[in-house]
Amino acid sequence: MRISKKTVVIFGGKTGLLGQSLTKAFEKAGARPVPLSSADCDILDPMEVEELLEREKPDLVVNAAAYTQVDLAEDEQDKAFALNATAPPLLAALAARHSATFVHYSTDFVFKGNKRTPYTEEDSVSPFSTYGISKSDGERGLLKLGYAKTLIIRTSWLFGPGRTNFVRKMLDLADCRDTLTVVDDQIGSPSYAPDIATHTLQLLEKDATGIFHLANSGETSWHGLASMAVKLAGKECAVTPIPTSDYPTKAERPAYSVLDLGKFIKTTGVTPRKWEDALEEYVREILS
Ligand SMILES: NC(=O)c1ccc[n+]([C@@H]2O[C@H](COP(=O)([O-])OP(=O)(O)OC[C@H]3O[C@@H](n4cnc5c(N)ncnc54)[C@H](OP(=O)(O)O)[C@@H]3O)[C@@H](O)[C@H]2O)c1
Repeated sequence: MRISKKTVVIFGGKTGLLGQSLTKAFEKAGARPVPLSSADCDILDPMEVEELLEREKPDLVVNAAAYTQVDLAEDEQDKAFALNATAPPLLAALAARHSATFVHYSTDFVFKGNKRTPYTEEDSVSPFSTYGISKSDGERGLLKLGYAKTLIIRTSWLFGPGRTNFVRKMLDLADCRDTLTVVDDQIGSPSYAPDIATHTLQLLEKDATGIFHLANSGETSWHGLASMAVKLAGKECAVTPIPTSDYPTKAERPAYSVLDLGKFIKTTGVTPRKWEDALEEYVREILS
């Protein structure tokens, strides 16, 4: 597909961490993005969505909207399932009425985390947190619907401009504390939102459909990510590793959720840059 001149409705495109980067990437590619927040259009209201699609007549519908508060989801299960499990297949069905390509994002948290080699698209899902189960149900709903022009991208550990995220929080805390303690026994793939947006367009250019894993190259722990961010920002703050058992959270996270990028690389011919290089760009942007 040629992206240029295409009308792209982006749920989450006005206020979401990934959505804002997607809006910029589609703009840069010469498309006509229609970025939305929940105030513009509620994805839980099919009539509102249908009216919007009727008005915009999109070539592409991108769902970067979701319930993303992993711990709060344990207390707000209905909300998490409505947004992450019920809404995606409804959106895809409405996109299908307009023959629009449907792009949806999912998460590494659909995996159990008991592997020690990167998860491929062939690995079976086995989520255990409310967030993970709701996102996995969303994927299943889309696969069951079976709309052929559907692209599902699982990404992980997002950071980037436009909305608060783990890296930003660590850098803000480093300004007012001498020491940060961060878990070092959860391993994953940090993903820079602008890179994930650019790579999404590369998949669309190849007419990719089905499930793809997408992250920056490499892997680290939350401690590794925080210490590198603090180091790159030149902040005087010690970052001390702690086990997950010393930082209990309401929702349990997978101990290992690195995503295998082989299918993406084979399909697009592009290898995502290392997370450290992407982080350096982000930190430079924050400091300027
Ligand atoms: N963040 C991560 O580390 C991470 C990791 C792996 C996968 N993912 C996945 O990547 C995708 C994007 O995540 P993100 O972190 O960029 O999300 P985010 O920053 O939390 O943004 C969520 C977006 O969803 C919108 N939204 C919420 N409820 C809505 C509703 N009822 N109707 C319409 N829009 C609604 C929000 O709009 P308002 O601002 O108006 O509420 C916001 O724009 C999600 O599918 C997420 O599961 C994220």
